[in-house]
Amino acid sequence: MLPLADLPRFPLLDGPSPLQPLHRFSEALGNRAEVWIKREDLLPLAFGGNKLRNLEFLVGRALADGADTLVTSGRRWSNHCRLTAAAGARAGLGVHLVLGGPPRPDDGPNVQLERLLGATIHVAPTGDRADREALVGDVTAALRSAGRRPFMIEVGGSGVTGAVGQVLAGQELVEQARKRAAEPHSLIVPSATGGTQAGLLWGLRDAGCVARVIGVAVAQPPDELRARVAAILDGLADLTGAEPPAEAIEVNADHLAPGYGRRNGAAKEATELLARTEGILVDPIYTAKALAGLIGLVRNGELDGRRVVFWHAGGTPGLFEPLDD
Ligand SMILES: Cc1ncc(COP(=O)(O)O)c(C=O)c1O
Repeated sequence: MLPLADLPRFPLLDGPSPLQPLHRFSEALGNRAEVWIKREDLLPLAFGGNKLRNLEFLVGRALADGADTLVTSGRRWSNHCRLTAAAGARAGLGVHLVLGGPPRPDDGPNVQLERLLGATIHVAPTGDRADREALVGDVTAALRSAGRRPFMIEVGGSGVTGAVGQVLAGQELVEQARKRAAEPHSLIVPSATGGTQAGLLWGLRDAGCVARVIGVAVAQPPDELRARVAAILDGLADLTGAEPPAEAIEVNADHLAPGYGRRNGAAKEATELLARTEGILVDPIYTAKALAGLIGLVRNGELDGRRVVFWHAGGTPGLFEPLDD
């Protein structure tokens, strides 16, 4: 068992996110699979999203360490950055966000929301990760010399501390599904830095659920993503003293093209199908691509007769983000 009770945690949630059956969506796919949805998009702060789970433990750690400012980084559409701004506001901490460049003439929706939430925004001169990381170093040094106590959160909040929040999410899903006699055969999750996928896999296995956890790659090639997930599982093993799951890490890379933060046709079709059968919205960067992955697996017969949970990880403001098509 994880020593979760010993880990510092700052509460940001308000009970479990809903688990709902998607009757009309399943019917539109010929009722070949019974599709359910886990509504992480309905978590309570700043348009919701899965990263609030990570932030409960990251902000908890920051407060325990005596920090007064959160510093994190990401792309301009980062949900993790927006939710860090929200969590910092809730905890009374300063927030500095370092975003990939180049600077744009107008703020997109996520940046507008981050400013509204009181965060300070720094934009790197280019989109290169090295430039962004150098700027993170400069911002942190400047904060220290101004007498502040910054706490660094890695990209996506997806180190081991953050992944603990996803472990709890996996356990929560199993408990909800069992209460409704609806334990899934598979879970389909958008996967970028791999922290969500790793934490959910651990949480499911810890709760004795053998469902497949299929990460739909949206940012990194499958080998790199698998290595990231494996590294986070190893970190959870170190933290808990338990063995990591021995099985292969499942990655579906069918919707990676044309690249991170770029639209594809299958994701657009998936978005319209869910919107027009269920009234639920997904975003083009993460969740629409995962949903397209799910539809592909249903259509090729891999999920015939199975109950499958679509992990709606959030990302709603991404619907309005200007993206290169
Ligand atoms: C809406 C949404 N879905 C999925 C992901 C991917 O999560 P991870 O980075 O843990 O793989 C993210 C990451 O930012 C996200 O914002």
